Amino acid sequence: MNVLIMGQSGLLGSYLKRTADKKDELFLPERNELNIKDTQKFYEYIKKNKIDLCINAAGLTNVYLCETNVEEAFKVNAYAPAECAKICREEKSRFVHVSTGFVFDGKKISSYVESDIPSPINAYGESKDRGELFILRDNPDALILRTDELFGRSASSAGHNVIAYIIGQLLSGKTATLYPIKTSPTYGYDLAKFIWSLKREPEVKGILHAVNKGAFTYAEVTEIAARLTKTKASVRTRNDVFKYKVPQNCSLESEKIKSMNLPEMRCFEDALKDSLREFL
Ligand SMILES: NC(=O)c1ccc[n+]([C@@H]2O[C@H](COP(=O)([O-])OP(=O)(O)OC[C@H]3O[C@@H](n4cnc5c(N)ncnc54)[C@H](OP(=O)(O)O)[C@@H]3O)[C@@H](O)[C@H]2O)c1
Repeated sequence: MNVLIMGQSGLLGSYLKRTADKKDELFLPERNELNIKDTQKFYEYIKKNKIDLCINAAGLTNVYLCETNVEEAFKVNAYAPAECAKICREEKSRFVHVSTGFVFDGKKISSYVESDIPSPINAYGESKDRGELFILRDNPDALILRTDELFGRSASSAGHNVIAYIIGQLLSGKTATLYPIKTSPTYGYDLAKFIWSLKREPEVKGILHAVNKGAFTYAEVTEIAARLTKTKASVRTRNDVFKYKVPQNCSLESEKIKSMNLPEMRCFEDALKDSLREFL
């Protein structure tokens, strides 16, 4: 299978590269070689390389940058992916896109499921929400995986995810300063494996929540990580206000995975335990 990974240098992209099936031919353009906004070039790339599957792990993921450059956020996270999804449909190539729990407002007490109605409260969430809508409008066969709080290590994003920060603070005996937010932290390796497992399920489409099982505040994550690393947790809760609105709960769970008989992702603690090899 010819597989194009958009966003190959990012956290998820790095794990997709590491976990790919050797039998597949991977196409891994850098951003300057194939910018998702250049949809004419995307079309030519798909056609020339006979791409069977396009995994879109590209995105403007910096929430502050989205807030300060809304137009760019919408281009990268919504308009361009929708156009690419449409091209893939026309070229009979499967389109898999990654979205986020930030499409919700965070007011729900329990974890969000696929049938909950999105109601984003910041520019990043709005751009990702529009992306979901436009992609499925233009390519109803597309698959959109909503995930949350990706963690792990990659050349480009080492240290930039909250879980990596927490582990770094624990290992150096420092206090972790954290917002009181609830998430479903998801190991990039596990999400990548899950995405590859869906290669065998071409009929799976629409929106699916793909996270490691569980919902935790960052303080709870720190307690778990301290136990696993045999360090002492020290947490200070950040009370300062964000420069933008942030959902206080973006944890996700899937009501669809079981009913569709798809492989379930493991629980967060097991994933974190495995991921520690990358940090120690
Ligand atoms: N990280 C999380 O906690 C999280 C949570 C939920 C959902 N998600 C979603 O999961 C996906 C992957 O996230 P991630 O954390 O792996 O992202 P990331 O580490 O920030 O990487 C983003 C990737 O997108 C590429 N990119 C950005 N703008 C582009 C453009 N205009 N054209 C082509 N490529 C472009 C970047 O290339 P450069 O290296 O050249 O910048 C990079 O490879 C995103 O859709 C994100 O919204 C992430």
